[in-house]
Amino acid sequence: MIKINENFLRLKDNYLFSNINQRVNQYLKQNPLADIIRLGIGDVTRPIPKAITSAIKKAAEELEDKETFKGYGPEQGYDFLKEKIIKNEYRGLNIKSDEVFISDGAKCDTGNIIEIFDKDIKVGITDPVYPVYLDSNIMCGRKDTDIIYINATEKNDFTPIPEELEEVPDLIYICSPNNPTGVAMKKEILEKWVKFAREQGSIILFDDAYEAFIEEEDIPHSIYEIEGAKEVAIEFKSYSKTAGFTGLRCAYTIVPKELVVKRQIQEITDSFSNNLGNNSISINKLWNRRSTTKFNGVSYVIQRAAEAVYTEEGKKGINENIKYYKENTKIILEGLKKAGITCYGGINSPYIWMKIPKGISSWEYFDILLKQYNIVGTPGVGFGTNGEGYFRLTAFGDRDKTKEAMERISKG
Ligand code: MLT
Repeated sequence: MIKINENFLRLKDNYLFSNINQRVNQYLKQNPLADIIRLGIGDVTRPIPKAITSAIKKAAEELEDKETFKGYGPEQGYDFLKEKIIKNEYRGLNIKSDEVFISDGAKCDTGNIIEIFDKDIKVGITDPVYPVYLDSNIMCGRKDTDIIYINATEKNDFTPIPEELEEVPDLIYICSPNNPTGVAMKKEILEKWVKFAREQGSIILFDDAYEAFIEEEDIPHSIYEIEGAKEVAIEFKSYSKTAGFTGLRCAYTIVPKELVVKRQIQEITDSFSNNLGNNSISINKLWNRRSTTKFNGVSYVIQRAAEAVYTEEGKKGINENIKYYKENTKIILEGLKKAGITCYGGINSPYIWMKIPKGISSWEYFDILLKQYNIVGTPGVGFGTNGEGYFRLTAFGDRDKTKEAMERISKG
Protein backbone atom coordinates (compact mmCIF):
# COMPACT_ATOMS: atom_id res chain seq x y z
CA MET A 1 0.00 0.00 0.00
CA ILE A 2 1.25 3.45 -0.84
CA LYS A 3 2.17 5.49 2.21
CA ILE A 4 2.87 9.17 2.46
CA ASN A 5 5.65 10.85 4.38
CA GLU A 6 3.75 11.33 7.62
CA ASN A 7 6.05 14.13 8.68
CA PHE A 8 4.06 16.34 6.32
CA LEU A 9 1.01 15.74 8.50
CA ARG A 10 2.82 17.38 11.37
CA LEU A 11 3.03 20.66 9.47
CA LYS A 12 0.54 23.49 9.86
CA ASP A 13 -2.14 23.34 7.13
CA ASN A 14 -0.60 26.13 5.10
CA TYR A 15 2.69 27.87 4.63
CA LEU A 16 2.43 31.24 6.43
CA PHE A 17 2.33 33.44 3.33
CA SER A 18 -0.13 31.16 1.50
CA ASN A 19 -2.38 31.41 4.52
CA ILE A 20 -2.20 35.22 4.42
CA ASN A 21 -2.94 35.24 0.69
CA GLN A 22 -5.99 33.06 1.20
CA ARG A 23 -7.35 35.37 3.88
CA VAL A 24 -6.76 38.46 1.74
CA ASN A 25 -8.36 36.85 -1.32
CA GLN A 26 -11.35 35.82 0.76
CA TYR A 27 -11.73 39.40 2.00
CA LEU A 28 -11.40 40.75 -1.55
CA LYS A 29 -14.11 38.41 -2.77
CA GLN A 30 -16.51 40.03 -0.31
CA ASN A 31 -15.09 43.55 -0.76
CA PRO A 32 -13.90 43.75 -4.36
CA LEU A 33 -13.42 47.53 -4.22
CA ALA A 34 -11.18 47.50 -1.15
CA ASP A 35 -7.98 49.50 -1.75
CA ILE A 36 -5.57 47.00 -0.24
CA ILE A 37 -2.01 48.02 0.65
CA ARG A 38 0.30 44.99 0.83
CA LEU A 39 3.09 45.20 3.40
CA GLY A 40 3.01 41.48 4.18
CA ILE A 41 5.34 39.16 2.28
CA GLY A 42 8.76 40.65 1.62
CA ASP A 43 8.30 40.89 -2.12
CA VAL A 44 10.04 43.65 -4.01
CA THR A 45 8.14 46.21 -6.09
CA ARG A 46 10.87 48.30 -7.76
CA PRO A 47 11.57 47.44 -11.40
CA ILE A 48 14.82 45.71 -12.29
CA PRO A 49 17.59 48.09 -13.43
CA LYS A 50 18.08 48.33 -17.19
CA ALA A 51 21.65 47.01 -17.05
CA ILE A 52 20.20 43.74 -15.78
CA THR A 53 17.28 43.43 -18.20
CA SER A 54 19.65 44.30 -21.10
CA ALA A 55 21.90 41.41 -20.00
CA ILE A 56 18.85 39.13 -20.04
CA LYS A 57 17.97 40.20 -23.61
CA LYS A 58 21.54 39.77 -24.80
CA ALA A 59 21.83 36.32 -23.20
CA ALA A 60 18.50 35.27 -24.68
CA GLU A 61 19.72 36.33 -28.14
CA GLU A 62 22.84 34.21 -27.69
CA LEU A 63 20.55 31.22 -27.41
CA GLU A 64 19.17 31.95 -30.90
CA ASP A 65 22.56 31.37 -32.45
CA LYS A 66 24.05 27.91 -33.00
CA GLU A 67 27.52 29.19 -32.08
CA THR A 68 26.51 30.69 -28.73
CA PHE A 69 23.64 28.39 -27.80
CA LYS A 70 23.83 26.85 -24.30
CA GLY A 71 22.31 23.63 -23.03
CA TYR A 72 22.98 22.33 -19.51
CA GLY A 73 25.36 24.56 -17.62
CA PRO A 74 27.52 23.58 -14.65
CA GLU A 75 25.20 22.54 -11.81
CA GLN A 76 27.19 24.72 -9.41
CA GLY A 77 26.96 27.80 -11.62
CA TYR A 78 29.00 29.45 -14.36
CA ASP A 79 32.50 30.68 -13.54
CA PHE A 80 31.74 34.15 -14.94
CA LEU A 81 29.22 34.72 -12.12
CA LYS A 82 31.23 33.02 -9.39
CA GLU A 83 34.22 35.23 -10.20
CA LYS A 84 32.11 38.37 -9.88
CA ILE A 85 30.67 37.17 -6.56
CA ILE A 86 34.10 36.49 -5.12
CA LYS A 87 35.46 39.82 -6.32
CA ASN A 88 32.51 41.94 -5.22
CA GLU A 89 31.04 40.17 -2.18
CA TYR A 90 34.03 38.37 -0.68
CA ARG A 91 37.00 40.60 -1.41
CA GLY A 92 39.85 39.65 0.90
CA LEU A 93 37.95 36.74 2.46
CA ASN A 94 39.69 34.04 0.42
CA ILE A 95 36.56 32.33 -0.92
CA LYS A 96 37.33 30.01 -3.83
CA SER A 97 35.30 29.31 -6.91
CA ASP A 98 34.49 25.72 -5.93
CA GLU A 99 33.10 26.97 -2.61
CA VAL A 100 30.40 29.00 -4.39
CA PHE A 101 27.17 27.24 -5.43
CA ILE A 102 24.75 29.28 -7.54
CA SER A 103 21.13 28.34 -6.89
CA ASP A 104 17.56 29.44 -7.50
CA GLY A 105 16.99 30.79 -4.01
CA ALA A 106 18.15 31.01 -0.42
CA LYS A 107 14.73 29.68 0.56
CA CYS A 108 15.44 26.39 -1.26
CA ASP A 109 19.04 26.15 -0.06
CA THR A 110 18.32 26.81 3.62
CA GLY A 111 15.67 24.09 3.42
CA ASN A 112 17.63 21.62 1.27
CA ILE A 113 20.92 21.81 3.15
CA ILE A 114 19.61 19.69 6.02
CA GLU A 115 19.42 16.67 3.69
CA ILE A 116 23.15 16.17 4.02
CA PHE A 117 23.02 15.86 7.82
CA ASP A 118 21.84 12.92 9.88
CA LYS A 119 18.22 12.93 11.00
CA ASP A 120 19.35 12.26 14.52
CA ILE A 121 20.82 15.66 15.35
CA LYS A 122 19.61 18.72 17.23
CA VAL A 123 18.79 21.83 15.29
CA GLY A 124 18.77 25.29 16.84
CA ILE A 125 16.40 27.85 15.43
CA THR A 126 15.45 31.18 16.85
CA ASP A 127 11.92 31.92 17.97
CA PRO A 128 10.61 33.90 16.09
CA VAL A 129 12.07 32.52 12.86
CA TYR A 130 11.68 32.47 9.07
CA PRO A 131 9.21 29.54 8.87
CA VAL A 132 11.11 27.70 6.11
CA TYR A 133 13.79 26.46 8.52
CA LEU A 134 11.31 24.86 10.90
CA ASP A 135 8.99 23.45 8.23
CA SER A 136 11.89 21.92 6.27
CA ASN A 137 13.19 20.22 9.40
CA ILE A 138 9.73 18.85 10.19
CA MET A 139 9.39 17.55 6.62
CA CYS A 140 12.63 15.63 6.97
CA GLY A 141 11.45 13.94 10.15
CA ARG A 142 12.79 16.09 12.93
CA LYS A 143 10.50 16.03 15.96
CA ASP A 144 9.84 18.93 18.29
CA THR A 145 12.30 17.38 20.74
CA ASP A 146 15.04 17.61 18.07
CA ILE A 147 14.50 21.35 17.73
CA ILE A 148 16.13 23.72 20.17
CA TYR A 149 14.25 26.99 20.20
CA ILE A 150 16.48 29.97 20.84
CA ASN A 151 14.52 32.89 22.25
CA ALA A 152 14.86 36.19 20.43
CA THR A 153 12.75 38.56 22.48
CA GLU A 154 12.68 42.10 23.80
CA LYS A 155 14.58 40.79 26.84
CA ASN A 156 17.70 40.05 24.78
CA ASP A 157 17.11 42.83 22.24
CA PHE A 158 16.10 40.09 19.76
CA THR A 159 19.76 39.08 19.69
CA PRO A 160 20.30 35.74 21.38
CA ILE A 161 23.78 34.72 22.55
CA PRO A 162 25.11 31.18 23.02
CA GLU A 163 25.35 31.63 26.82
CA GLU A 164 21.54 31.59 26.91
CA LEU A 165 21.35 28.07 25.45
CA GLU A 166 20.32 25.22 27.70
CA GLU A 167 21.29 22.56 25.18
CA VAL A 168 23.91 22.43 22.42
CA PRO A 169 22.49 22.41 18.88
CA ASP A 170 24.42 20.58 16.17
CA LEU A 171 23.11 22.87 13.46
CA ILE A 172 22.32 26.49 14.27
CA TYR A 173 20.31 28.70 11.93
CA ILE A 174 21.21 32.37 12.24
CA CYS A 175 19.51 34.96 10.05
CA SER A 176 21.08 38.42 10.23
CA PRO A 177 19.78 40.99 9.45
CA ASN A 178 16.93 39.02 10.84
CA ASN A 179 13.71 37.98 9.25
CA PRO A 180 11.27 38.69 10.90
CA THR A 181 12.53 41.03 13.66
CA GLY A 182 14.66 43.23 11.41
CA VAL A 183 17.43 43.26 14.04
CA ALA A 184 21.02 42.60 12.88
CA MET A 185 23.78 40.90 14.87
CA LYS A 186 26.77 43.00 15.81
CA LYS A 187 30.23 41.62 15.11
CA GLU A 188 30.95 40.86 18.77
CA ILE A 189 27.79 38.71 18.99
CA LEU A 190 28.53 36.82 15.81
CA GLU A 191 32.04 36.20 17.15
CA LYS A 192 30.47 34.54 20.19
CA TRP A 193 28.45 32.21 17.94
CA VAL A 194 31.46 31.29 15.83
CA LYS A 195 33.51 30.61 18.97
CA PHE A 196 30.68 28.50 20.38
CA ALA A 197 30.35 26.49 17.16
CA ARG A 198 34.09 25.88 17.05
CA GLU A 199 34.18 24.71 20.68
CA GLN A 200 31.08 22.52 20.42
CA GLY A 201 31.55 21.13 16.93
CA SER A 202 28.32 22.74 15.69
CA ILE A 203 27.70 24.16 12.22
CA ILE A 204 26.12 27.58 11.68
CA LEU A 205 23.71 28.02 8.76
CA PHE A 206 24.00 31.75 8.20
CA ASP A 207 21.17 33.29 6.20
CA ASP A 208 22.53 36.58 4.86
CA ALA A 209 19.73 37.37 2.41
CA TYR A 210 19.22 40.91 3.75
CA GLU A 211 22.87 41.93 3.84
CA ALA A 212 22.36 44.76 1.35
CA PHE A 213 20.28 46.65 3.94
CA ILE A 214 23.07 46.86 6.53
CA GLU A 215 24.03 50.44 7.26
CA GLU A 216 25.67 50.32 10.69
CA GLU A 217 29.41 49.75 10.78
CA ASP A 218 29.66 47.07 13.43
CA ILE A 219 27.42 44.61 11.55
CA PRO A 220 29.33 42.04 9.47
CA HIS A 221 28.30 41.72 5.82
CA SER A 222 29.42 38.10 5.77
CA ILE A 223 29.99 35.59 8.56
CA TYR A 224 33.41 34.94 7.04
CA GLU A 225 34.50 38.34 8.34
CA ILE A 226 34.71 36.51 11.67
CA GLU A 227 37.96 34.67 12.17
CA GLY A 228 37.57 30.90 12.09
CA ALA A 229 34.05 31.01 10.59
CA LYS A 230 35.08 29.11 7.47
CA GLU A 231 35.53 26.00 9.57
CA VAL A 232 32.04 26.19 11.06
CA ALA A 233 29.68 28.12 8.80
CA ILE A 234 27.73 27.88 5.57
CA GLU A 235 26.47 31.21 4.19
CA PHE A 236 23.35 31.78 2.09
CA LYS A 237 22.96 34.92 -0.02
CA SER A 238 20.41 35.96 -2.55
CA TYR A 239 19.72 38.47 -5.32
CA SER A 240 16.00 38.49 -4.42
CA LYS A 241 15.90 41.40 -2.04
CA THR A 242 19.20 42.93 -3.10
CA ALA A 243 18.58 43.18 -6.82
CA GLY A 244 14.85 42.57 -7.19
CA PHE A 245 15.17 38.93 -8.29
CA THR A 246 12.20 37.51 -6.35
CA GLY A 247 10.67 36.64 -9.73
CA LEU A 248 13.89 35.95 -11.65
CA ARG A 249 15.32 33.58 -9.02
CA CYS A 250 19.05 33.54 -8.32
CA ALA A 251 21.03 33.08 -5.12
CA TYR A 252 24.25 31.48 -3.94
CA THR A 253 25.52 29.43 -1.06
CA ILE A 254 29.08 29.35 0.20
CA VAL A 255 30.29 26.00 1.52
CA PRO A 256 33.93 26.41 2.55
CA LYS A 257 36.29 23.50 2.05
CA GLU A 258 37.57 23.91 5.60
CA LEU A 259 34.14 22.78 6.83
CA VAL A 260 34.39 19.12 7.74
CA VAL A 261 32.70 16.66 10.06
CA LYS A 262 34.14 13.53 11.61
CA ARG A 263 33.66 10.34 9.60
CA GLN A 264 31.03 8.17 11.31
CA ILE A 265 31.38 5.02 9.26
CA GLN A 266 34.50 3.55 7.77
CA GLU A 267 32.98 1.71 4.80
CA ILE A 268 31.95 4.83 2.90
CA THR A 269 33.80 5.85 -0.19
CA ASP A 270 36.87 7.96 0.31
CA SER A 271 35.74 10.46 -2.27
CA PHE A 272 33.96 12.48 0.44
CA SER A 273 37.05 12.84 2.58
CA ASN A 274 39.13 15.91 2.10
CA ASN A 275 42.78 16.63 2.22
CA LEU A 276 42.62 17.12 5.98
CA GLY A 277 42.72 13.35 6.29
CA ASN A 278 40.61 10.30 5.99
CA ASN A 279 38.76 10.85 9.20
CA SER A 280 36.97 13.96 8.07
CA ILE A 281 34.16 14.28 5.59
CA SER A 282 33.96 17.39 3.47
CA ILE A 283 30.60 19.17 3.66
CA ASN A 284 31.53 20.95 0.44
CA LYS A 285 31.83 17.61 -1.36
CA LEU A 286 28.54 16.36 0.04
CA TRP A 287 26.71 19.52 -0.99
CA ASN A 288 28.30 19.25 -4.42
CA ARG A 289 27.13 15.63 -4.64
CA ARG A 290 23.62 16.63 -3.62
CA SER A 291 23.51 19.58 -6.03
CA THR A 292 24.79 17.65 -9.05
CA THR A 293 22.21 14.93 -8.40
CA LYS A 294 19.13 17.02 -7.74
CA PHE A 295 19.76 20.29 -9.53
CA ASN A 296 20.67 21.28 -13.08
CA GLY A 297 21.75 24.80 -12.28
CA VAL A 298 20.21 28.24 -12.71
CA SER A 299 19.50 29.17 -16.33
CA TYR A 300 22.30 30.82 -18.30
CA VAL A 301 20.12 33.87 -18.97
CA ILE A 302 19.46 34.49 -15.29
CA GLN A 303 23.10 34.00 -14.34
CA ARG A 304 24.03 36.64 -16.93
CA ALA A 305 21.40 38.87 -15.28
CA ALA A 306 23.05 38.29 -11.89
CA GLU A 307 26.45 39.05 -13.40
CA ALA A 308 25.10 42.41 -14.58
CA VAL A 309 24.29 43.31 -10.96
CA TYR A 310 28.05 43.93 -10.62
CA THR A 311 28.41 46.34 -13.55
CA GLU A 312 28.71 50.04 -12.72
CA GLU A 313 25.22 50.67 -14.08
CA GLY A 314 23.81 47.59 -12.34
CA LYS A 315 25.27 48.64 -8.99
CA LYS A 316 23.92 52.15 -9.41
CA GLY A 317 20.44 50.83 -10.20
CA ILE A 318 20.24 48.41 -7.32
CA ASN A 319 21.66 50.94 -4.86
CA GLU A 320 18.91 53.35 -5.86
CA ASN A 321 16.32 50.64 -5.22
CA ILE A 322 17.77 49.79 -1.82
CA LYS A 323 17.79 53.50 -0.98
CA TYR A 324 14.13 53.68 -1.97
CA TYR A 325 13.21 50.78 0.34
CA LYS A 326 15.31 52.23 3.14
CA GLU A 327 13.42 55.51 2.81
CA ASN A 328 10.22 53.46 3.13
CA THR A 329 11.47 51.95 6.40
CA LYS A 330 12.00 55.48 7.74
CA ILE A 331 8.47 56.43 6.75
CA ILE A 332 7.09 53.33 8.49
CA LEU A 333 9.19 53.79 11.63
CA GLU A 334 8.18 57.46 11.89
CA GLY A 335 4.53 56.72 11.11
CA LEU A 336 4.30 54.02 13.75
CA LYS A 337 6.09 56.16 16.29
CA LYS A 338 3.60 58.95 15.61
CA ALA A 339 0.80 56.46 16.23
CA GLY A 340 2.41 55.59 19.58
CA ILE A 341 3.45 52.10 18.50
CA THR A 342 6.74 50.63 19.72
CA CYS A 343 8.77 49.01 16.98
CA TYR A 344 12.10 47.33 16.33
CA GLY A 345 14.30 46.59 13.34
CA GLY A 346 14.15 48.64 10.18
CA ILE A 347 17.63 50.15 10.53
CA ASN A 348 19.71 47.44 8.87
CA SER A 349 16.75 45.64 7.41
CA PRO A 350 13.61 46.07 5.30
CA TYR A 351 11.47 44.60 8.12
CA ILE A 352 9.80 46.46 10.95
CA TRP A 353 8.73 44.41 13.96
CA MET A 354 5.96 46.27 15.72
CA LYS A 355 4.48 45.63 19.13
CA ILE A 356 0.73 45.32 19.06
CA PRO A 357 -1.63 46.46 21.80
CA LYS A 358 -1.91 44.09 24.77
CA GLY A 359 -4.87 41.74 24.76
CA ILE A 360 -5.04 41.40 20.98
CA SER A 361 -3.56 38.35 19.26
CA SER A 362 -1.42 38.91 16.20
CA TRP A 363 -4.01 37.22 13.94
CA GLU A 364 -6.71 39.45 15.46
CA TYR A 365 -4.51 42.43 14.70
CA PHE A 366 -4.07 41.11 11.15
CA ASP A 367 -7.86 41.13 10.76
CA ILE A 368 -8.16 44.63 12.20
CA LEU A 369 -5.53 46.01 9.83
CA LEU A 370 -7.07 44.19 6.88
CA LYS A 371 -10.69 45.01 7.54
CA GLN A 372 -10.50 48.48 9.10
CA TYR A 373 -7.46 49.90 7.31
CA ASN A 374 -7.16 47.62 4.26
CA ILE A 375 -3.50 47.00 5.10
CA VAL A 376 -1.87 43.56 4.86
CA GLY A 377 0.97 42.71 7.22
CA THR A 378 2.30 39.51 8.75
CA PRO A 379 1.17 38.31 12.19
CA GLY A 380 4.15 37.71 14.45
CA VAL A 381 2.91 34.36 15.70
CA GLY A 382 3.31 33.02 12.16
CA PHE A 383 7.05 33.13 12.89
CA GLY A 384 6.83 31.29 16.22
CA THR A 385 5.39 31.46 19.71
CA ASN A 386 7.56 34.42 20.69
CA GLY A 387 6.10 36.33 17.75
CA GLU A 388 2.73 36.53 19.49
CA GLY A 389 2.09 40.14 20.43
CA TYR A 390 4.06 41.40 17.40
CA PHE A 391 3.39 42.16 13.78
CA ARG A 392 5.76 42.50 10.80
CA LEU A 393 5.58 45.19 8.12
CA THR A 394 7.87 45.33 5.09
CA ALA A 395 9.44 48.32 3.41
CA PHE A 396 9.29 46.70 -0.03
CA GLY A 397 6.04 48.41 -0.96
CA ASP A 398 5.37 51.34 -3.24
CA ARG A 399 6.33 54.73 -1.69
CA ASP A 400 2.92 56.39 -1.99
CA LYS A 401 1.12 53.29 -0.73
CA THR A 402 3.52 53.05 2.22
CA LYS A 403 2.81 56.69 3.11
CA GLU A 404 -0.90 56.12 2.72
CA ALA A 405 -0.70 53.06 5.00
CA MET A 406 0.96 55.13 7.72
CA GLU A 407 -1.68 57.83 7.34
CA ARG A 408 -4.43 55.25 7.72
CA ILE A 409 -2.78 53.82 10.87
CA SER A 410 -2.03 57.19 12.48
CA LYS A 411 -5.61 58.42 11.90
CA GLY A 412 -6.61 55.42 14.04
C1 MLT B 1 9.28 36.98 3.77
O1 MLT B 1 8.39 37.80 3.57
O2 MLT B 1 9.54 36.53 4.88
C2 MLT B 1 10.11 36.58 2.61
O3 MLT B 1 9.73 37.26 1.47
C3 MLT B 1 10.00 35.18 2.36
C4 MLT B 1 11.05 34.68 1.46
O4 MLT B 1 12.04 35.37 1.16
O5 MLT B 1 10.91 33.53 1.06
